[in-house]
Amino acid sequence: MALRSQWGTRAGFIMAAIGSAVGLGNIWRFPAVAYENGGGAFFIPYLFALLTAGIPILIMEFTMGHKYRGSAPLTYRKMNKKTEFIGWWAVLVAFVISTYYSVIIAWAIAYAYFSIDLAWGANTETFLFNDYLKMVDPGQVGNLVPGVLIPLILVWFVVLFILFRGVRKGIEIANRIFIPALAIIFLIIVIRAVTLDGAMQGLQAFFEPDFSSIFSGEVWVAAYGQIFFSLSIAFGIMITYSSYLSEKSDITNNAFITGFGNSSFELLAGIGVFSVLGFMATQSGVAVDEVVSDGVGLAFVVFPAIINEFPGLNGLFGFLFFASLVLAGLTSLMSLTETYVAGISDKFNISRRKAVMFGGGLAAVISLIYATQGGLSFLDTVDYFINQFGVALLGLVEVALITWVLRQVKNLKNHADEISDIKLGWWFPVSLNVITPLVLGYMMFDLLRLNLLKLFDTPTGNYAGYSDTFILFAGWSVAGVALIVGIVMAATKWRSKEADSGYSDQKEAK
Ligand code: ALA
Repeated sequence: MALRSQWGTRAGFIMAAIGSAVGLGNIWRFPAVAYENGGGAFFIPYLFALLTAGIPILIMEFTMGHKYRGSAPLTYRKMNKKTEFIGWWAVLVAFVISTYYSVIIAWAIAYAYFSIDLAWGANTETFLFNDYLKMVDPGQVGNLVPGVLIPLILVWFVVLFILFRGVRKGIEIANRIFIPALAIIFLIIVIRAVTLDGAMQGLQAFFEPDFSSIFSGEVWVAAYGQIFFSLSIAFGIMITYSSYLSEKSDITNNAFITGFGNSSFELLAGIGVFSVLGFMATQSGVAVDEVVSDGVGLAFVVFPAIINEFPGLNGLFGFLFFASLVLAGLTSLMSLTETYVAGISDKFNISRRKAVMFGGGLAAVISLIYATQGGLSFLDTVDYFINQFGVALLGLVEVALITWVLRQVKNLKNHADEISDIKLGWWFPVSLNVITPLVLGYMMFDLLRLNLLKLFDTPTGNYAGYSDTFILFAGWSVAGVALIVGIVMAATKWRSKEADSGYSDQKEAK
């Protein structure tokens, strides 16, 4: 039986964990989420969610992976056979996210290329939707868009090649190169951003607290959602990555470094993004809130417009911004993909390479849906539903099950304390046993209520105004299928004996 793959060094693991956490969620999601949910005041729920859910769950997942040494399904199975389905559900959620996450990276590659001669022209909105994506109405598929398809093939080629090479020779080396490169590029961008005219106005808008917002439930939902997505917790990733730790590893310290590292990057992204938004607002003589936008709009419409206005080296700064999205995205996509590669490899007792070809290959084929002319509507809907009813619901089920049903908190705390320098205090069990399940439980109840009400509302009452049929098909069914397939996978017979033994033998590429 071959030994399980291992990280070469502690720094290698930390880089990989930060690489997974720092992603598109930090650069394009956080600044707009923070702004829309109270600006400076958002930091209160955000910090609360980080300290009572983000870091405790990260420590919990690191400990689970380290203790049970398996992919997410194998780890859950070793903890209790009946909970294997949670591991598969997490794997399926990671799978679904990877299918559209890869497409956003593909757009960023295309835009890095467009930056060179500012090919998007003066009207960046028309360019994105009409010239680049060639969008059709929601629900229609249309043809494959070559400008998306070509970089998408490149994205999958790079990611699958890295995973093919294994944990140490592939994922670790790639993160050791990509993460420092990302940090340098991002610092250059932020320094340039804060020295632009109007930057202070942008920062003022970003940090100005609207304290009334902290009494709104939605703001808390947004803070928890952001922390879960951004820290890559509750979708199996961190369990998988920590299963490759050596026996003597400091779990608690590593979790703090990862958690604070990710949030620092997020804050830096917020500062950078709002400085340039302030610049843009000053240039066009409008208020900052008129130029703020989220996700797709911010990165692919507002940013190119800002790059057009840059006082000099426009092409270079455009290129650096989109390159940072590509680097941050690739290291997260590797971790999403590794989650199901490890699951398949453990369950069916096949080599890493076969698991990469099968799992990664299938994800690459499915990702083609989003490379069509109708891709953006699918992406938008699947992203919303898989995050709310995949990641957040999964987080609630995971925490409630581990704490209330399996009563594992004490065991896990003891395991972490045994090998870590910092000993976990009272806040750890209180966060996991009480605060997180209650807050998440309330959040889920409210979200379900709101979304179900909207479902039976008018055809435009749904999420983002899409029709009932489209929401049922692209939203609810995708989130539901992730759970159902998870249950089916858990019921499938294990091909390897490790499921019931002390450790697994996932094979490193030789
Ligand atoms: N944690 C990754 C992100 O923030 C998935 O994008």
